[in-house]
Amino acid sequence: MLLLLLLLLRLHTSLQQPTPPPGRCDISQRLDTHTSCTSCAAVTTASCPHGFGIVGTLNCSYVVQIGGSSVPLDGCQHHCAKGVMQPQCCPEHWGTLCLPCPSWSGKTCNFHGLCQDGDLGNGTCVCEDGFSGFACQECKNPNAYGEKCDKECGCVHGVCMAGPDGDGQCLCQPPYTGKICDQVNSRCSNCNPYSFCSGEGDTASCECLPGYRKTPQGKCATICSARDCDVNAECSSQGSRVSCVCKPEYQGDGRICVPRNPCLENNGGCPMNSTVCVFRGPNKSSCECMFGMSPVGGSPEFGCELVSACSADTCDPTAVCQTELDGQPRCVCEAGQIGDGRRCFGNLMERLIELGRSGRQRENLTEAVSLFEKGCFLLLSHNGPFTAFIPLMRTPLTGVNEEEVCKNHLILGQHLYKDLEGRDVNLYGGARFRSKDNKQHYVAFTEQQRPLQAHVEINSVGLRAVTVSSHSPN
Ligand SMILES: *[C@@H]1O[C@H](CO)[C@@H](O)[C@H](O)[C@H]1NC(C)=O
Ligand SMILES: *[C@@H]1O[C@H](CO)[C@@H](O)[C@H](O)[C@H]1NC(C)=O
Ligand SMILES: *[C@@H]1O[C@H](CO)[C@@H](O)[C@H](O)[C@H]1NC(C)=O
Ligand SMILES: *[C@@H]1O[C@H](CO)[C@@H](O)[C@H](O)[C@H]1NC(C)=O
Ligand SMILES: *[C@@H]1O[C@H](CO)[C@@H](O)[C@H](O)[C@H]1NC(C)=O
Repeated sequence: MLLLLLLLLRLHTSLQQPTPPPGRCDISQRLDTHTSCTSCAAVTTASCPHGFGIVGTLNCSYVVQIGGSSVPLDGCQHHCAKGVMQPQCCPEHWGTLCLPCPSWSGKTCNFHGLCQDGDLGNGTCVCEDGFSGFACQECKNPNAYGEKCDKECGCVHGVCMAGPDGDGQCLCQPPYTGKICDQVNSRCSNCNPYSFCSGEGDTASCECLPGYRKTPQGKCATICSARDCDVNAECSSQGSRVSCVCKPEYQGDGRICVPRNPCLENNGGCPMNSTVCVFRGPNKSSCECMFGMSPVGGSPEFGCELVSACSADTCDPTAVCQTELDGQPRCVCEAGQIGDGRRCFGNLMERLIELGRSGRQRENLTEAVSLFEKGCFLLLSHNGPFTAFIPLMRTPLTGVNEEEVCKNHLILGQHLYKDLEGRDVNLYGGARFRSKDNKQHYVAFTEQQRPLQAHVEINSVGLRAVTVSSHSPN
């Protein structure tokens, strides 16, 4: 409960991050993971990966190898979670900088196309049929006009106001006039260059073409108007023409300019297998190591390698720390050992000998150690996990089959003493063990065993009670 509370606090604080830059609509997400399935006795010492909190403990099943066969056992695992802010672009924004998609007159893709938006998008407009241009602001057919690009211009001697914004009106090449510029009008016979003949009949006159302005001398000169060019374009009126040219770090036709994204080509020169190319701005990018990796030659441009996620205290000294492909550390045990995600436990025989040498009950364990060595040495050294009842005795048992007695002091799997209380238990030797009120007579040891000892009081008649139950299967 306390852990859950801590986790919620953590989720809460991570939500209070500074407001993301414009174009970013980050979402908060919960990452879930599980510790590996182990015995419920061992799971209490398992810990979640760094940064994760324990949300709860779940039932699960794990498999152990006993005498050459696989036995599934019930176990436990922690459910771990942490809160993260997942960076994400707002709709109609793209790339790592979440730049706005191309728009025309404030309309994204001129409302006639779909922007390839999102973090992985490249910010291009995929135009509907009949439309073209960076922001779908043109008709595919240069002679078409109208909101749907479905009308055809009919100018005979003139230029049509074409495109989705055009109205199909003709700008007549002097001296022609008329709706479709098919009539000659003498009033327009002496127009300056870059003019068209406006009006008809007696009202016809010479006017400068769009993008040109009448000079005091009555000529038509080009003007650079902000309306004609993208803000990231240079407008020039060289000679007679207005031309818009995107700044070098941008690409486009000058009316629309989008930043060059070096990452779109060859991963921006970043090594594909260990780095990602990050768009930093117009024609700017940098290489970054993939998650859990660090630069090889001082800079990610030269590639990255997996970095060790292990620190001195990641694993117990009994385990070896390894960095997994996901960048997370994992405590690995030697073959034949059992781990709880942090510690590794040797086999039960080793543990028993160790307790006989230095445990609190060492003087009362000598005979039990000798019994188990005679009866179950190979079993306890190579198989498991088992939970063992260790008889406390100072005098050797005589006239018994040590192997049988020993096997009837074992339960398959790792169990907490408190979970065995009041339960019937199948012993590994085939006997059943019925818990009695005098349960204090037994000590249960599992491989990792410490918590069990603490619960149990030992007295010297323990042996008798255990041997009786193991010899009388009913
Ligand atoms: C886990 O198993 C125990 C014992 O079998 C049971 O009492 C408990 O309800 C189970 N918990 C879940 C979450 O399934
Ligand atoms: C952008 O992405 C679209 C769809 O994935 C693709 O068809 C197009 O070629 C890309 N444009 C560039 C400049 O890479
Ligand atoms: C874009 O950047 C690259 C690398 O810095 C440079 O070589 C190239 O000339 C630039 N292109 C333009 C058009 O500025
Ligand atoms: C990436 O590829 C290069 C060249 O093929 C290789 O030398 C390097 O070891 C690879 N790095 C990783 C992390 O796979
Ligand atoms: C061994 O058992 C005896 C009898 O129960 C007890 O008095 C003694 O304290 C035990 N030895 C140790 C080291 O606990």
